[in-house]
Amino acid sequence: MMKIALGSDHAGLSLKMEIIKHLEEKSLEIKDFGTYTEESCDYPDYAYAVASEVSKKNFDLGILVCGTGIGISIAANKVKGIRAAACSDTFSAHASREHNDANIIALGERVVGVGLALDIVDTFLNSKFQGDRHQRRIDKITEIENRRNK
Ligand code: RB5
Repeated sequence: MMKIALGSDHAGLSLKMEIIKHLEEKSLEIKDFGTYTEESCDYPDYAYAVASEVSKKNFDLGILVCGTGIGISIAANKVKGIRAAACSDTFSAHASREHNDANIIALGERVVGVGLALDIVDTFLNSKFQGDRHQRRIDKITEIENRRNK
């Protein structure tokens, strides 16, 4: 069963809860790494919580939500092995899996409506990495990640 890690800051809490409700109807194992309240908090904390679990392969994929999807994806991308894609449309959501082997999708609660967000999530989860020439490019990203001074 596919394991999905979720996280958000306060600005993404309500959309994250909608996504959780939606995913609970599917046969997926999901875990919410917070935040759990509307109290103002810092998105890097939740980006790191989810990204480190995905990086350690404790979860297959991650879903992060903040106000824009941008801050939380920038933070997640600092974790080794993470390719987080901030997406506001379904084309980017499947391309991010197929071409970039994205392992986290980031959404902005202040950017997309709930209906579109759920379509984006479903598209992301149902798409597969195409390998081949794309693998060569991912390998180059990993190579940059491994450089001592980047
Ligand atoms: C919080 O106000 C907001 O800055 C944050 O959720 C996110 O949009 C940052 O990129």
